[in-house]
Amino acid sequence: FGSLATKVERNPSFSSLNSDDVSYFKGVLGEKNVVQDEDRLETANIDWMHKYKGSSKLLLLPRNTEEVSKILEYCNSRRLAVVPQGGNTGLVGGSVPVFDEVIINAGSMNKIIAFDKVSGILVCEAGCILENLISYLDNQGFIMPLDLGAKGSCQIGGNVSTNAGGLRFVRYGSLHGNVLGLEAVMANGDVLDMLGTLRKDNTGYDLKHLFIGSEGSLGIVTKVSILTPPKLSSVNIAFLACEDYLSCQKLLSEAKRKLGEILSAFEFLDSHAMDLVLNHLEGVRNPLPSAVHNFYVLIETTGSGVSFDKEKLEAFLLHSMESGLISDGVLAQDINQASSFWRIREGVPEALMRAGPVYKYDLSIPVEKMYGLVEEMRLRLGQSANVVGYGHLGDGNLHLNISAPRYDDTILAQIEPYVYEWTSKHRGSISAEHGLGLMKANEIFYSKSHETVQLMASIKKLLDPNGILNPYKVLPHSRCSYS
Ligand code: FAD
Ligand code: MLT
Ligand code: ZN
Repeated sequence: FGSLATKVERNPSFSSLNSDDVSYFKGVLGEKNVVQDEDRLETANIDWMHKYKGSSKLLLLPRNTEEVSKILEYCNSRRLAVVPQGGNTGLVGGSVPVFDEVIINAGSMNKIIAFDKVSGILVCEAGCILENLISYLDNQGFIMPLDLGAKGSCQIGGNVSTNAGGLRFVRYGSLHGNVLGLEAVMANGDVLDMLGTLRKDNTGYDLKHLFIGSEGSLGIVTKVSILTPPKLSSVNIAFLACEDYLSCQKLLSEAKRKLGEILSAFEFLDSHAMDLVLNHLEGVRNPLPSAVHNFYVLIETTGSGVSFDKEKLEAFLLHSMESGLISDGVLAQDINQASSFWRIREGVPEALMRAGPVYKYDLSIPVEKMYGLVEEMRLRLGQSANVVGYGHLGDGNLHLNISAPRYDDTILAQIEPYVYEWTSKHRGSISAEHGLGLMKANEIFYSKSHETVQLMASIKKLLDPNGILNPYKVLPHSRCSYS
């Protein structure tokens, strides 16, 4: 802990919490929703990776928008900095305090407000856990347009605030498309009702987009309306082996062409990621045990023609086998086998965590170039670390993870800024789906121009003039003119 946070200085314009503040919050929220218990604060102060740690003395659990509004209005007038927190599964140090910021967790705001079975539009509070929404919709014959390994803990408000991508992005696209409306509370406590449920609405600036992906730096999202697709009857999953990266890439082009309308996921992991999963997660076994393979690809199709879809996928796999793109493969025979395939891919972050310290990079890079970076990093780091590549190949999103025996400035100096420079040189993005958080706030210029960042800073100033919302995150903090 600490080495990252100590690079930032506490903004001296922020006040420190006092007993009058705590009394005020107890008056608004009730005693039990104002948490000062040390164990609960410890959990809320530490991120999922155990890499970032704050020292907040207060966790607030509002139950509705009005309470969020009162909290923020008060914090703004007192210049108390705050961190909006959802499931605390973020991977860039954005969801925990850097210093003593007050933590506001939307977890108690977890009601489904409405669901329209005709349009598939779901309206719910921001604290709903993604997996609960998935189960609710399943009963209604619908699915969420996003799915990710952290679904058991992450909240829809956190998903929207990070513009999370995940495993279904290749089919359903970004939350900028699927979120039809939202309600957010601004730093001064004003409530912005943009909770529309329309597919089309071109009346002026579409301001909800400012809150999608801004990582709690412009307001607290309290309600969301989201377009959900119907659940289709035919889902098939294949777990495949490829011997080189070029084959994975060609397989993707072929899958887009030949499975186009039914393709719903195209994920990959290399043999290093597979080894980690097999070594660190209980009950996971390799579905293709007869040989060691260099790459594994998971392809999912979703459609409405049970026999037609299966035949189509089987024909595709046979052709890919004959042309040598895949060296082995297996099609899930039932739902349990399908879940076991997903467990392998979704389990990679957890396996990495169990293996020890990890340097995580979430990059958008043109698919042809993508794996070149993993290979270069292996050459740069030699035996000092395990360089692992996996991710959402169908979206051009690489998760480059470097698993090391310890967090070490020498190793870090081998990785950064090289990874960012390489990504920038190939016109990629240094954050494909995780956001910038604290980790990459100062690296924003690798992906955005000075003019763009300047405009972002002006918008931040307009919406949050005292800078109380998630300070030190997203926008660069060491260059005064931007913060
Ligand atoms: P938190 O981690 O609590 O917060 C994330 C950010 O959003 C913070 O900046 C926080 O201040 C802000 N925030 C949270 N709630 C609100 C709110 N109501 N209003 C305003 N701001 C808010 N991400 C992907 O994109 N794709 C993946 O496939 C993916 N897989 C993951 C798998 C695992 C195992 C893990 C641990 C993480 C994964 N993530 C993935 C990262 C993370 O889960 C997502 O970013 C998720 O959307 C964060 O949601 P959360 O509720 O946990 O938010
Ligand atoms: C994933 O795709 O598994 C997530 O984004 C988490 C990670 O990058 O480790
Ligand atoms: Zn991911």
